[in-house]
Amino acid sequence: MIDLNQKICLMGDFGVGKTSLIRRFVQRKFNEQYISTVGAKISRKLVEVQNGFNKQKKNIQLLIWDIEGKSKFESLIPTYLRGAKGVIIVGDISRPITIEHIRQHLDLFSQINPHAKAITIAINKLDLATTKQAQELLEKYDLKSVFPITNIYLTSAKIGSNVDEMFQKLASRLIDKEFDTR
Ligand code: GTP
Repeated sequence: MIDLNQKICLMGDFGVGKTSLIRRFVQRKFNEQYISTVGAKISRKLVEVQNGFNKQKKNIQLLIWDIEGKSKFESLIPTYLRGAKGVIIVGDISRPITIEHIRQHLDLFSQINPHAKAITIAINKLDLATTKQAQELLEKYDLKSVFPITNIYLTSAKIGSNVDEMFQKLASRLIDKEFDTR
């Protein structure tokens, strides 16, 4: 039984690994080949989470919108974002400029969905950086202070680090918001 259907989006510059994170989470696969997404592609995944208030188990079906990072169809992006209850904004640890662009993606998302609160940042391709590099980058951008209301994950779609944890946490935030009876 599905208790809740919710739309979430993945946004971020081209090539940061949006499609790969979704593929890892939904199909448990990774592909080295880069095929740029045109427009938007929707995947579904049923996730079981525990309601944070009464510990009841709930099934949430995530409709995961993979939104292209190239600007060719930029005018359509607001249409793709409409109705989303959550977002994962993705940056690429090996291309710092993509991390600098996170703010722009978040601003656009918030403009279209001002009440969506399940906001997550993924700094992806962790496998391409050493622990020291990753640490230095986090210090440089100090994302936790700049984006205080977000969950921030260092992920690797290639080896799977933190991918399930990130989607699972997002799903539980959506459930908690929906079934918060306090
Ligand atoms: P657009 O659809 O153009 O916006 O790109 P995208 O953000 O969906 O990126 P995509 O998932 O297509 O990945 C781009 C390239 O990066 C592909 O060659 C992937 O194999 C590679 N890639 C994605 N995630 C990772 C990762 O965690 N580690 C490594 N090493 N490569 C990755």
